[in-house]
Amino acid sequence: MKILAADGVSPKGIEILRNEGYEVVVKDKLPADELLAIIGEYDALIVRSASKVTKEVLEAGKNLKIIGRAGVGVDNIDVAEATARGIVVINSPGGNTIAATEHTMGMMLAMARHIPIANETTQKGEWNRKKYVGVELRGKTLGIVGLGRIGAGIAKRAQAFEMDVIGYDPYVTEDRAKAMGVRLASLDDIVAESDFITVHMPLTAETRNMFNKDNLHKMKKGVRLINCARGGIINEQDLADAVKEGIVAGAAIDVFTSEPMPADHPLLGLPGVVLTPHLGASTVEAQIGVSIDVAEGIRAHLKGEPVMTA
Ligand code: MLT
Repeated sequence: MKILAADGVSPKGIEILRNEGYEVVVKDKLPADELLAIIGEYDALIVRSASKVTKEVLEAGKNLKIIGRAGVGVDNIDVAEATARGIVVINSPGGNTIAATEHTMGMMLAMARHIPIANETTQKGEWNRKKYVGVELRGKTLGIVGLGRIGAGIAKRAQAFEMDVIGYDPYVTEDRAKAMGVRLASLDDIVAESDFITVHMPLTAETRNMFNKDNLHKMKKGVRLINCARGGIINEQDLADAVKEGIVAGAAIDVFTSEPMPADHPLLGLPGVVLTPHLGASTVEAQIGVSIDVAEGIRAHLKGEPVMTA
């Protein structure tokens, strides 16, 4: 059996597969045309978010039996096409939960206290104590959209900061929300009441542009938004416009509709905006966790054992 890890992955998972006797080829970065050219040789494929597993890739992957996504989101994989071809798609739903949760909290604090720009200017020898006056989290209303593993982790940590946490998630019951210390709210209420809003859901037809010109204009003046989930949930151009209009005081964004982001991206250079290059899952611990999760899933599937599909 031959396995291709196309986007680089922690050696821990690779070790599990090699110990099983499989041949594993690891590429740190594989251009799309190269992936298409070589995929026919492999029985299993491991990807992060960079490689796009399109219909063409699946067509060319004549021997493919399983695709392991070392992470949560499978929006870079044509899951319907893979399923139709009998190729199993697995992911690691919990491996990077803490990493993404902590990155979100870090982004919220960095944005609220102007830490990135204060660091940048201090490093250059400036001393701007008056310019970078921030806001506190305590007493502010945090609207969490999506109360899954990461959303629930944010709720817990935000309560430690004495924030008032409200949440929107059509799949979460009142009892579950209550157990998290979250008051369930409609999306309209989240928009109207929140001082900070953070989104934690996959990108789907329903969530694409969920935050746009219309509801950005209904938010509290001075609202701060965080997106460490998927680019496109908050419309990037509408968000940039709302920052320029003074409606949105801050935006902390880790994910983009197109990654790497283009040099003329509308959010670049705007005051109050903190950007990171899709680092939510980038911790040593998370990368080991997701690598082990997918390796174990692949090993199980290749041995004919049942696996949990994405
Ligand atoms: C995920 O979906 O797990 C995260 O966005 C991290 C990643 O893409 O690797």
